[in-house]
Amino acid sequence: MRRALIAGNWKLHGLQENQSWIPALETAVTTPPSNDVAVCVPATLITTMAQTAPDWLSVGGQDCSVHEKGAHTGEISARMLADAGCSYVIVGHSERRADHGETDAVVKAKAERALEAGLTPIICLGESLGERDAGNAEDVCRDQLLASIPEAPAAKVVIAYEPIWAIGTGRTATAQQAQDMHEILRQAWPGDDHDALRLLYGGSVKPANAAELLAQRDIDGALVGGASLDAESFASIIASAK
Ligand code: 13P
Repeated sequence: MRRALIAGNWKLHGLQENQSWIPALETAVTTPPSNDVAVCVPATLITTMAQTAPDWLSVGGQDCSVHEKGAHTGEISARMLADAGCSYVIVGHSERRADHGETDAVVKAKAERALEAGLTPIICLGESLGERDAGNAEDVCRDQLLASIPEAPAAKVVIAYEPIWAIGTGRTATAQQAQDMHEILRQAWPGDDHDALRLLYGGSVKPANAAELLAQRDIDGALVGGASLDAESFASIIASAK
């Protein structure tokens, strides 16, 4: 049985604008959720978040280095994230693939470092609008999956399907589009343990559409950007998880 995971991704938003986020979330979530919940924050906030988060809220990073240590100015290793209090780390987000030219091979190496450090990598993939319109979405996502995953049991990783055209646009994939892609990705998982693979949907997930998305058979949770910055909205999405 797969446990749902609702993970927030704060991206480049800090505590300055989110001072009261944890108290507000604790007010809105009255009983500890039965599913897993995490928030992936900028690196400078990890320690504070890990020290102040309620027991049921895990903390994640948004990226990690392909290196373990050494002369790599500006990098943060997966082990450093774990030491700071992280349980998860996002790797291969489309914004990093676009802004920093991260290839599938780089994403795979980062996921490997995450596993070595005892973190659960949340490996992101998804097609562009052009790729969807050209009818290539399935092939693009299947290829990204196979090239970005480390050799590991399905239960050790999380995959997030985030169609690029749905990120921050308010244009969500329909529940059917998301379910169809999740089913394809589950079947494409190379091991025979694909039933243990947790597949999150990401892209304009909001309180208004979360329940329908999360009710789909192969959608095991959500990776939530903008709506995770607002504690009440995030609480409402947490409550929508099966
Ligand atoms: P939005 O929920 O703001 O569309 O962002 C999705 C995302 O990129 C999460 O990683």
